[in-house]
Order: sequence, then structure tokens, then C-alpha cells
Amino acid sequence: MKIQLRKPFFPNKSIIRIQNQIKNVMKSGQLTLGENVKMFEEDFAKYFHVKFAVAVSSATAGLHISLLSLGIKKDDEVIVPAKTFISTANAALYCNAKPIFCDVDESTFQLDPSKIEQLITKKTKAIIPVHLGGNICEMKKIKKIAKKHNLSIVEDAAHAHGSTLRGQFAGTFGEIGVFSFYPDKIMASSDGGIIITNNRKLFKKLILLRNVGRKSIGEYDYTEIGYNYRMNEIQAILAREQLKLLPKILQKRRAITKKYDSKFKDLSNIKIQKISKDVNSGYYAYIMKLKKGNLKKFRANLLKKGIETSPMFTTIYKTKIYKKFKTKKYYCPNSEKLDSETFTIPLHPGLTSKEVDYVIQEIKNQDN
Ligand SMILES: Cc1ncc(COP(=O)(O)O)c(C=O)c1O
Repeated sequence: MKIQLRKPFFPNKSIIRIQNQIKNVMKSGQLTLGENVKMFEEDFAKYFHVKFAVAVSSATAGLHISLLSLGIKKDDEVIVPAKTFISTANAALYCNAKPIFCDVDESTFQLDPSKIEQLITKKTKAIIPVHLGGNICEMKKIKKIAKKHNLSIVEDAAHAHGSTLRGQFAGTFGEIGVFSFYPDKIMASSDGGIIITNNRKLFKKLILLRNVGRKSIGEYDYTEIGYNYRMNEIQAILAREQLKLLPKILQKRRAITKKYDSKFKDLSNIKIQKISKDVNSGYYAYIMKLKKGNLKKFRANLLKKGIETSPMFTTIYKTKIYKKFKTKKYYCPNSEKLDSETFTIPLHPGLTSKEVDYVIQEIKNQDN
């Protein structure tokens, strides 16, 4: 048996609908930033109970212009978790600001609020909590710190479409939330991202920043140095279809992870990511930690059985391009330790119960 780690969910009926819509768009000639993008933004904002949504070409682009819209500039500091995807930190560098790496909690693997304040200086302007794997960071504590020090919050919700904390959606706690539609995400498209906010001023700025500094295509009145971060119509058609499917996608993901939880909770050498009872995760990833032994060997054994797995990110300052950020001051021991311990197992709505059972059995066989 070969079991894929992640796979987008497009039932045949959706594919037919998408094909028809793409045909119409191709005939119309309006292939980017058209009606489908507009409808998608409206639908997304409605679903997440926010005032504004700005569709962009990727979450990477979204994080970049979110920081710009908040006025982040040269030499400002932005606090990010050490364990994340590189785009979270890159967003600060793109603004000529400095990413400041904060350690993560050893059980939730997410930004540890108790380690944030010691990193705050006069230059600190924002925090980017990353909702890892669909879990949600401790937003009450993070918001309190942000308020006390007058910092903005941009939530990296690339993994957390539909996740809630005490009933509130991930992406709606800070000034801005950013989601990804990279094909392996909870909502997939042919790449893409979206920014949500309730702040009209930020919304207006984001609209300009994503479209080379102008409000709409065909205008030549540029009021900002913007970027070509537009979402195109084909991306929007796919993403809109995914939004319609989101309740079903979440239901399927949650059913699989419930089964995983029940079967994995008593393993001796493997610990599951800790998720608070207040969080209803959308489960982009099912993250586990190998307590003892060699993770590479463990993963290779699973691959021999046809089961794909992935490591759960590398501490950013340990990657080649970020080495200069590795200093004693910003040492993140939990994140570094987790690099050789955490991994994710197959999780997508298309997994059959036979496949889920097979994954469970093979992981149990590896546990000792
Ligand atoms: C935590 C996190 N943030 C941001 C991104 C960037 O998303 P995109 O590929 O849409 O630019 C990713 C992508 O995997 C991610 O995992």
C-alpha cells in the first residue's frame, strides 16, 4: 500500500464545475483579478465573519504586504516562532526589518507566550503567531502582551482554515490573518493566499500593495510602491470551490484525527501534539514527536511500508540562509530539540478507513 502524506480534495462534481467556470473565464479574457476573485473575497470574509478579505498570489506575499500595511520598515523587529516555514521570517526581511526568533512550547510546538516579553525592545513592532498544523496559539496571552507593548499581531494562519479557539476562527484575533492555498493546505488551489482584517485602513492599503500600487487593473494612478501579488481567476475558481467544501473537508480531517488520537494516545515512544480543549483544530497536519531513537530511521521504516511522512520544519536560524541570526541571545532550545523529534503522518480527506487503519497499525508496530 502507498499512502500519500497530503492531497487536495476535489470530488468529481467539483472538477466538472471548475472546468465549466474556467472555460467561461477563458472566453471572457479576464484571467486575473476579475469577478471570481471578487466573489471569493466576499464569500471568504462572510465565512470567517470579518469585514474585509484581500486575495493574493500566496501566503508568502500576503505576509509581506500585511507587514508593509502596518508600516513595518527598516530596522524594525518582528517576533516570529523559531519553528515555522521560512515565509513567516522572510516577510520581515522583505521589509528590511529583523525577524526575532522566539522559542516554542515543547508540547504544543507553537510560539511560547512566556518567552515573548524578554525579546521585546524599542524596535519591536509586531508579532507573527503561527498556528502550527491547525492548532491555535495562546492568543489571549499573546494579545495581552501585544496590547501592553503596543505591538501589532499578524496571524500566520496558513495551516488553520476553519480552526477555532473558544469558537473564534484562527486569523481573526489580531489586526490581520493570512491563509495559504498552496495545494497541500486545508483549502487548496494552484497556489494562492488571502488576507483578512476588520480594519478598513489596512484593507485599503492592502488592495493597493497587491496590485502594483493601484486600486484596479487599467488604472495608471499609482499611490504606493506595490507588488504584483494578484490572485488570478483560475486560482480563485479553485479556492471558491474549496470554500464550499470546507465544512466537509474539516469534518473528514477531524474524523481521521479523532481515530488517530484514540489509537495513539497510549503509545510509549510517541507523543501527539498537545492541543488545548478550547481549540477545534482544522488539522492541516497531524504532528507527532518521537521521544527516543532516530527519527530519520523511523521515517525510513514507515516509507518502506509505503507510508509518507514529513519532518515538522527546521528551526529557521539553523538553515543556511539564516545562520547569521543564530546568536546566544536568541537561542531556542525547544525548537532545536524538536527538529529531530517531530514529524507528520498522512492526513487528507481522501484517505480511506482501510488506509487510516494501515497507518495506525504500522505506527504502532514501530512504537517501542
Ligand atoms: C506556516 C506557513 N506560513 C506561510 C507559508 C507560505 O504559504 P505559501 O506557500 O502560500 O506562500 C507556509 C507554506 O507552507 C507555511 O507553512
